[in-house]
Amino acid sequence: MNQQQSDVLAPDVGAAHGGECIRLEGLTRTFGDVIAVDHVDLLVRPGEIFGLLGPNGAGKSTMIKMIIGLLRPTAGDAFVQGMNVRRHPMEVKRRIGVLPEELHLYERLTGEEYLLFTGRMYGLGEETVRQRTGQLLNILELAEAADRLIIDYSQGMKKKVALAAAIIHRPGVVFLDEPFNGVDVVSSRSIRNILYHLVDNGMTVFFSSHVMELVEKICSRVAILKKGRLAVCGTIQEIRANLQIGQDKDLEEIFLHSIGESAEEQDLSWLG
Ligand SMILES: Nc1ncnc2c1ncn2[C@@H]1O[C@H](COP(=O)(O)OP(=O)(O)OP(=O)(O)O)[C@@H](O)[C@H]1O
Ligand SMILES: [Mg+2]
Repeated sequence: MNQQQSDVLAPDVGAAHGGECIRLEGLTRTFGDVIAVDHVDLLVRPGEIFGLLGPNGAGKSTMIKMIIGLLRPTAGDAFVQGMNVRRHPMEVKRRIGVLPEELHLYERLTGEEYLLFTGRMYGLGEETVRQRTGQLLNILELAEAADRLIIDYSQGMKKKVALAAAIIHRPGVVFLDEPFNGVDVVSSRSIRNILYHLVDNGMTVFFSSHVMELVEKICSRVAILKKGRLAVCGTIQEIRANLQIGQDKDLEEIFLHSIGESAEEQDLSWLG
């Protein structure tokens, strides 16, 4: 084993991953004067469905991009399965699946071709790729569109094929940036079932969303970002207890409370 291989197999000092799947330590990213992510510490355990919430511009996508090794942190570190993303970007990328906020698909391929191509890129055998492609197209209600070019897909269909591509290699951790945005009710349920299936089979799911009811229903724990800082984190019960708010408050109310949104009405009479 060469130095680089043993380096990859040995977790970074201070980041042994027993009982933790994702660890963020002071993760920070600035863009000029804007502090998009501000010293975030976070721990996600294996087998969790973890939901990341926050208003537009709170830093969710920036945070995800740093964890998956797409964007360099200004300060701090992210660890995935005990590996420092900064030091082992390739090894981390092999172990994760990603549904990015902005999709970059090979739109001149059909949905089926794209999944076959993606599976092969991950080194899966021909038969395995064909089997998984067929199953994923079916479960995501894309079977009838399998032979159509992705460029002709609707937004929701593109999202679903991108989700299928994110999990075809059976990654240990899946990062999904707004997976439910723009998908219909039936597909939303299929995606939900896929997420349950992933965690039942030992994977970990980390996703951002604005759909409170879904996050409330499916996540074991949630974090709410406010202007790049972690406002709250925990199970919904824990967050209610921390904020000292009633058991009857749902996630939407917790969210509004956490980000300090006032219920003040704006005068929109000029709209007529
Ligand atoms: N490449 C970039 N260059 C400059 N500023 C950026 C860049 N990417 C993000 N930002 C800024 O960082 C902040 C956080 O943006 P980010 O996209 O992470 O938010 P978000 O929580 O994902 O929002 P949304 O819910 O709208 O997707 C915003 O102020 C945004 O303008
Ligand atoms: Mg975003």
